[in-house]
Amino acid sequence: MDFKQCIAQRRSIRKYKKDDIEDHILYELLDYARLAPSACNSQPWRFKIIKDPETKQTLSQLAFNQKHIADAPVVIVCCAHIKDYVNGSLLGTEELHNLDMIDADFYKLVKYRTNGLSSVRAENLVSEVSFSVTIAIEHIALGATALGLGSCWVKIADAKKIRELFGWDENLQYVSLLTLGYPAETPKPLRKLSLKEILL
Ligand SMILES: Cc1cc2nc3c(=O)[nH]c(=O)nc-3n(C[C@H](O)[C@H](O)[C@H](O)COP(=O)(O)O)c2cc1C
Repeated sequence: MDFKQCIAQRRSIRKYKKDDIEDHILYELLDYARLAPSACNSQPWRFKIIKDPETKQTLSQLAFNQKHIADAPVVIVCCAHIKDYVNGSLLGTEELHNLDMIDADFYKLVKYRTNGLSSVRAENLVSEVSFSVTIAIEHIALGATALGLGSCWVKIADAKKIRELFGWDENLQYVSLLTLGYPAETPKPLRKLSLKEILL
């Protein structure tokens, strides 16, 4: 499958076959996530793989009873690590600077800004950190398509209760669930904006 086919074939799949996804395939998908771009190469994404039916059922309830979560063979809880974002950004900026990939002035500016983030409350950084995490999630979704799997983003869920479920502190913030499994449906085409409509 070439890149355009993969992009076109990726659809949100909400009905799955019962077949399990082998661990080596899941690790392959997480490897795609690992290689995503991120602000200052901070790599703030963290993932929890859920196969256990009880936990999937709870996540389904916390996502306002979206049934496809409980039915999917695998659910990935995708998170943003806030503290690691700040530390990772400092390290990443240092590396970019040492490798001569960014100008000295820009390096100083980013370092100054990032140092300032240490005193910002974790909740207030969620949207900034999520930018990088969402790219990694989409790497998984596209990779899943390339490997014959289906996926569906599930953002709409009770973030606080999900954190409580796993006992995570404020540094690990929920970004989205991603359900995964072998597709048992071919979704109907959806309206997608034309090039003309998206060009400003
Ligand atoms: C950020 C984001 C959040 C989403 N949240 C949900 C969700 O909570 N439940 C759901 O069933 N689908 C969710 N979706 C899937 C969208 O409904 C879907 O991507 C959209 O309708 C376009 O369809 P397609 O993915 O098949 O192209 C979400 C997608 C994105 C990117």
